[in-house]
Amino acid sequence: MANRLDGKVAVVTGAASGIGAATARVLVSEGARVVLGDINDGALDKLVVELGDSAVGLHADVSREEGVRSLVQAALDSFGRLDVLDNNAAIEIPEDTGSSTSSNEAWQRTFDVTVMAAVWGARHAIPAMLAGDGGGSIVHISSGAVRYATATKAAYAACKSALETFSLYIGAQHGADGIRSNVVRPGFVLTEGVREIFNEEQRQRFADMLALGRVCQPEDVAETVAFLASPAAGYVNCAVLDVDGGGAKPMISW
Ligand SMILES: NC(=O)c1ccc[n+]([C@@H]2O[C@H](COP(=O)([O-])OP(=O)(O)OC[C@H]3O[C@@H](n4cnc5c(N)ncnc54)[C@H](O)[C@@H]3O)[C@@H](O)[C@H]2O)c1
Repeated sequence: MANRLDGKVAVVTGAASGIGAATARVLVSEGARVVLGDINDGALDKLVVELGDSAVGLHADVSREEGVRSLVQAALDSFGRLDVLDNNAAIEIPEDTGSSTSSNEAWQRTFDVTVMAAVWGARHAIPAMLAGDGGGSIVHISSGAVRYATATKAAYAACKSALETFSLYIGAQHGADGIRSNVVRPGFVLTEGVREIFNEEQRQRFADMLALGRVCQPEDVAETVAFLASPAAGYVNCAVLDVDGGGAKPMISW
């Protein structure tokens, strides 16, 4: 049986770790060739070696237009086309302390990595996709933080909201060109970074509160990205898919 992404070429930003790395692995296992961008060169190099000829890695800072442009160019130079853009890179910085306290610099840095990266992605990826034969799929990784406020990270969550609206506009304005744009909105995901912060007991306590009884793995999100990237999602556009297992389980049974 053919793989879902045979012949497709994808750019994944923030691909060196966590959800981005899991996504790169799933996309390649489904037949895609990938251009992986990150600023963590060591981890990126390891992943590229693991994925072999199907992957190209590039030091690309998506908080600068040149970083995003270079990823699109690498897809064209290395594989001759671009079909999928996964806007995955993000930062959560300590200076993003709260709605009345986060510094201007924290807001600006977060905005650039989250929103401007997607703006530049659309600017450079859409013409490249249109030059190919089958349109394209753009996936934006948001966060459950847009719906459930936390004590800090106001800039992170507000920028993710802006990202979701931007995704809607891409899908609405370019759907007729064959470009679909969608949002994946994970809840709490057990990446390496999260494993370092929460111990086994805390993780189990959290899992017990969830409707599915287990914490989301990076691969759960990656599989959803692969679906949205694939022709199987050909009529899915301007959507927001929550990948949170249904959230919390009902606390009271009647
Ligand atoms: N882990 C979670 O619980 C969770 C929950 C909801 C949403 N998300 C979202 O999922 C996505 C991936 O998060 P993750 O948990 O895998 O994080 P992560 O920190 O493991 O990975 C993010 C990657 O982005 C890279 N990056 C940071 N700034 C960059 C820049 N300027 N240019 C290029 N790359 C840059 C980092 O080096 C890192 O490899 C993010 O958009 C995040 O907001 C994560």
